[in-house]
Amino acid sequence: MNGANYSVVSEFVFLGLSDSQEIQIFLFFFSCLFYVSSIMGNLLIVVTVTSDPYLYSPMYILLANLSVIDLIFSSIAAPKMICDLFRKRKVISFGGCIAQIFFSHAVGGTEMVLLMAMAFDRYVAICKPLHYLTIMNSRVCISILVVAWTIGLIHSLAQLAFVVNLPFCGPNVLDSFYCDIPRLIKLACTDTYKLEFMITANSGLISLGAFLLLILSYIFILVTLQKHSLGGPSKALSTLSAHMTVVVLFFGPLIFFYMWPSPSTHLDKFLAIFDAVLTPFLNPVIYTFRNREMKVAIKRVFSQLMGFRKSI
Ligand SMILES: *[C@@H]1O[C@H](CO)[C@@H](O)[C@H](O)[C@H]1NC(C)=O
Repeated sequence: MNGANYSVVSEFVFLGLSDSQEIQIFLFFFSCLFYVSSIMGNLLIVVTVTSDPYLYSPMYILLANLSVIDLIFSSIAAPKMICDLFRKRKVISFGGCIAQIFFSHAVGGTEMVLLMAMAFDRYVAICKPLHYLTIMNSRVCISILVVAWTIGLIHSLAQLAFVVNLPFCGPNVLDSFYCDIPRLIKLACTDTYKLEFMITANSGLISLGAFLLLILSYIFILVTLQKHSLGGPSKALSTLSAHMTVVVLFFGPLIFFYMWPSPSTHLDKFLAIFDAVLTPFLNPVIYTFRNREMKVAIKRVFSQLMGFRKSI
């Protein structure tokens, strides 16, 4: 066998989410609503943080970067899924499929590192408050972002290296609405048992490890906060609970996805929708509606914009 035999599959066919007309209509409105809201919400955070001088602090700069990542992440699978909902034949080219895998892993890996950086930021702010601004200076923030994107890219390329050379010789139907590695390698005309193990080890264990590490560091910060009963603990507590909620929402579906042995249940399709459209929408909700500073800043930015218009 040589490479020429392998290039039979030039596109993949998605089975989509459901054949029922009612469910499709529901999913269409549900996904549109949350997709548009997540774009607006994350843009709102980016605009507010970049234009409000009072929010010029490492925590908000990292938060704005998280929103940029969410903007990209929510645009990888959701728009195509929404357009495909009412199509009889949902296809994606081989290259498109690889691109979806590449971007979702690059952005997902970056988000993972960024969530850790945000935990570290809270650790320094709460456990070493006097050194906060010297430790989290702008050079450190930039380095964090560079490291996060570099790790995301390396992780994604490593995942792709497992996939691009697989022989696809005919089967091309994916019971899904986007391309992901666990389902894709099942279509390859070769024994993928070892490969599946490698993928699970790579994505699954990294997610699980990162998740446990994050939860432990937040518990550590909470205990420190409790012990010293520092001034204004309620504000620190609400920031921490927001961070922890985002961590659980981000990692929950991911861990389920990669650690669960059978990727053919309906449950994980719906979890995937949750990850694709709901999680990026929830980040701005969690951070803006529960954060007074942020709400005040949004009002300030908007009233400035209005004032600016009037003065023209
Ligand atoms: C992301 O982080 C970098 C480095 O700290 C910062 O310069 C940039 O303004 C941030 N992006 C946003 C949208 O705030």
